[in-house]
Amino acid sequence: MNALMPAAALSLLSPNGFPDDVPDGVRDRVPGNVPDDVIDDVIGDVPDDVPDDVINGLCAERKHLPCRLLYDDLGAALFDQICGVEEYYPTRAELALLGDHLPHLAATVGARARILEPGSGTGHKTRLLLSAMQAPACYVPIDVSATQLADNAESLRREFPDLEVLPVCGDYLAPLRLPTPARSFDATLVFFPGSTIGNFHPDEACTFLARLADLAEPGGWLLLGADANTDEDSLLRAYDDEAGVTAAFNLNVLSHLNRSHAATFDPAAFLHRAVWNAAHSRVEMHLVSRRRQVVQVAGRAIGFERGEAIVTEHCYKHSAPALTAMLHRAGWSVKETYPDAQRRMTLWLARTTTR
Ligand SMILES: C[S@@+](CC[C@H](N)C(=O)[O-])C[C@H]1O[C@@H](n2cnc3c(N)ncnc32)[C@H](O)[C@@H]1O
Repeated sequence: MNALMPAAALSLLSPNGFPDDVPDGVRDRVPGNVPDDVIDDVIGDVPDDVPDDVINGLCAERKHLPCRLLYDDLGAALFDQICGVEEYYPTRAELALLGDHLPHLAATVGARARILEPGSGTGHKTRLLLSAMQAPACYVPIDVSATQLADNAESLRREFPDLEVLPVCGDYLAPLRLPTPARSFDATLVFFPGSTIGNFHPDEACTFLARLADLAEPGGWLLLGADANTDEDSLLRAYDDEAGVTAAFNLNVLSHLNRSHAATFDPAAFLHRAVWNAAHSRVEMHLVSRRRQVVQVAGRAIGFERGEAIVTEHCYKHSAPALTAMLHRAGWSVKETYPDAQRRMTLWLARTTTR
């Protein structure tokens, strides 16, 4: 069941953990190379200190790291590459659903909406949404990946000159200060595609969806994209592609900790592994230690046995009834659902209940 990182992909990594085949434009986007003028208008930032959840996770019996660490600037660019690999079906499926259903969904939400997007990424899907919406009041992308966020905001302003774009850099799990738009808005639409909801443990997903309901306010909307696929074979291929892009994405977590928090990981001493955990209906991304070793992180010595894994991401694949129940508990009422032909990726349109 364990799909180990192919040797061909391992050879893509240079000793500092950068994949050798990433385009120059991607390689340039490491922290420290962010031009000041690009980030000037982004509010918020990501703290430099090693947060407790990193140290606690590495000291836990079952080692784990928060999945936001996958998304430094290089990680964000690698995720963008993953979206284009043959085996990673969720992005293609969701783009097709958005192409088919956005005209109707946008008309249902109506004109002059404030659009919030937690985990906005490159904004490919955002462009489809913004083109379909009637006179949106403003667009607020929220992401931990500062350079990608700022670049995306800048291009969106060029592409949609009438739109106010108000980027917020930060952890969407932490309290966020949302900017006040210049224009008034009739309703809030929270756009949360990419099956990012699957990265949360079900209880945390419910809490997060309830926070989104608070942000959306009474009468607000949620447009969510979630993957319900439980076919092990296609999932393991999607999360461990032949070219090793997902492996490079996962291993970059270690380089990210080295770069940002003076850790001493040797990425070549770890392997990427994708595991389907049927009991919890989730794909797990692991980094497996190839040997017994000790790594320094923020002045702490972290020991690894040979074969010991760090869990870097969970991707829960919630069934439609489970997600419906979660949304309901979180204060959302499901209005419409649009599954793809294989009933894997689904678009969900929900509205806040009497909150
Ligand atoms: C799976 S990608 C989805 C990107 C895009 N929405 C899509 O559908 O293709 C998750 C996005 O969430 C961002 N992200 C992950 N954890 C985050 C956190 N805790 N706070 C803010 N952004 C986060 C990542 O930087 C990335 O852009």
